[in-house]
Amino acid sequence: MIRTRVIATAASAPKQVITNDDMAKIVDTSDEWITQRTGIKQRHISAGENTSVLVSDVAKQLLDRASVAAEDIDLIIVASVTPDYGTPSLACMVQKEIGAVNAVAFDVVAACSGFMFALSTADKYIRTGAYKNAIVIGGETLSKIVDWTDRSTCVLFGDGAGGAYVESSAEGGVIREDIGSAGDQYEILTEGYTACSNAFNDVPDQTDPEWYVHMDGRAVFKFATKKVMKSLQKVMEEEGITQEDVKFFVPHQANMRILEVVSKKLDIPFEKFYLNMDKYGNTSSASIPMALNELNEKGLLERGDKIILSGFGGGMTWGTMLIVW
Ligand code: COA
Repeated sequence: MIRTRVIATAASAPKQVITNDDMAKIVDTSDEWITQRTGIKQRHISAGENTSVLVSDVAKQLLDRASVAAEDIDLIIVASVTPDYGTPSLACMVQKEIGAVNAVAFDVVAACSGFMFALSTADKYIRTGAYKNAIVIGGETLSKIVDWTDRSTCVLFGDGAGGAYVESSAEGGVIREDIGSAGDQYEILTEGYTACSNAFNDVPDQTDPEWYVHMDGRAVFKFATKKVMKSLQKVMEEEGITQEDVKFFVPHQANMRILEVVSKKLDIPFEKFYLNMDKYGNTSSASIPMALNELNEKGLLERGDKIILSGFGGGMTWGTMLIVW
């Protein structure tokens, strides 16, 4: 059976680091509040580089690490809610930047579940035999859509990108997934609203304040714990495995407390959740591949290991995937 296997991973983040103490200089907050409520200690914030710079850097590293020529890439999918442009897609910008002249390139939008949706899409193309390989990236510069005067949201997010080069393989790879959407709840997490203003109506040409991230934190917390738990259970049950068979859970890095609840309720040892939100904050679609890359770079994964990636986010959306490394 053809499966989609991760061959290489990579990540990129802006150099500028903003600590919780730095945040306390611009809004009424403290290191203690942010750390206790979220587990975040610092985040990387763009000094001007846009999302295309970060995702292109990831793509270049992937080619290098996988020893693949750009012209041999079949498919490029980028997940993002903070692209440089409405069009072109980030994937087309990556295509140009690396010279992947033979690739099909497009973006997907599923907020913090974006990487899961992108990987799921690449998996279908590869499983059907349509394409042999893909570059799949999640990347964001959330700093440009955060309201830096709103302490309840601005302390949570960071900028970054992460990705994987995947290939068709007879061994290992994506084994099982559960992805889903709950559009009926879209209003609990929104950003980037653009009003329909034109020359023939009197809608103000003014997108603020809806442009910025708006979040009902408690509702998102509830949605996330419920959906992540159900989704993890579903994937493990359908595969006939328990948490003991899984080496690492690589969750969306939104909030440590959400994962503490999931860990307790599902009886999964907390150490099995790989966390790096303390360093990067919530980087939306980039968070899962950035964490996966860190695990990989640390040499903590061996071929044959079962790992589960799981995310949730705006839309609302969620996605969980069991992969054999
Ligand atoms: N620093 C200090 N105080 C803050 C603050 C900050 N950065 N942000 C909010 N507060 C205050 C509030 O103003 C409120 O004060 P009040 O009681 O005087 O009104 C108090 O802290 C509690 O606010 P609340 O929003 O109820 O806090 P919370 O316990 O729900 O924690 C979140 C807020 C956002 C950390 C939490 O709801 C959460 O983790 N939600 C999930 C968010 C998420 O994962 N988003 C990503 C989606 S992909």
